[in-house]
Amino acid sequence: MIKVIPTSDKSNTLYSEQFDEHYHSTHGAINESMHIFIKEALLYSSLKKATIFEVGFGTGLNAFLTFIESLKNDLSITYISLEKYPVDIDTSKQLNYADIIAPEYLSEFMKMHSSAWNEQVIINNGFKLIKILDDFNQYELKEKVDIIFFDAFSPDTQPELWSFPNFKKLYNALNDNGILITYSSKGIVKDNLRKAGFVVKRLKGPVGKRHIIRAEKKNI
Ligand SMILES: C[S@@+](CC[C@H](N)C(=O)[O-])C[C@H]1O[C@@H](n2cnc3c(N)ncnc32)[C@H](O)[C@@H]1O
Repeated sequence: MIKVIPTSDKSNTLYSEQFDEHYHSTHGAINESMHIFIKEALLYSSLKKATIFEVGFGTGLNAFLTFIESLKNDLSITYISLEKYPVDIDTSKQLNYADIIAPEYLSEFMKMHSSAWNEQVIINNGFKLIKILDDFNQYELKEKVDIIFFDAFSPDTQPELWSFPNFKKLYNALNDNGILITYSSKGIVKDNLRKAGFVVKRLKGPVGKRHIIRAEKKNI
């Protein structure tokens, strides 16, 4: 069972009874995603053309924010997003991200949710979306990517997702100077990222979260 929950910046998030977790911080879903995934990864990379791989499509908030950023900054984005437990269309209609951020792009947000799985969908010239219905634990990336949005449920709830073999798989899929960004700065997460070869940096988190992690693949 999934419930729609308001957060402090008025944007909604979802609560999963199955995992007993919210999809975002209750201190503000948009605020959190903007800080972590847009500011500290997409804008930090300063790439004009990028392939992004996301673990956990969920509400589509990160995809939608990236799409809006691609319009603002004239970016060319291929956005590949993996999901094991898709949000149904009635629930996605209750997510108020387009209303808050850019009501004129509501149809693009809904297209992200209603579009077919496992095929490339053109949202507009600068934004291609490929949603993949699969379990990250057994998924093998076929393409090289520039940025990884690692947005699974927490390492306490899903420790196997945050494991060394999974981070190694992501490290191997990254281009040189590629970035992995995630909201958890737990010790085991940093250790597994370092073991996989990443240079790990702790950054200031959004409201309600002390630290987040940016891990980079440096070509030494
Ligand atoms: C913290 S939520 C965030 C989702 C999304 N990025 C968002 O902003 O709404 C975690 C997501 O990971 C998905 N997930 C959980 N286990 C997974 C797995 N084994 N493989 C792929 N996705 C998974 C969940 O269904 C959920 O959508």
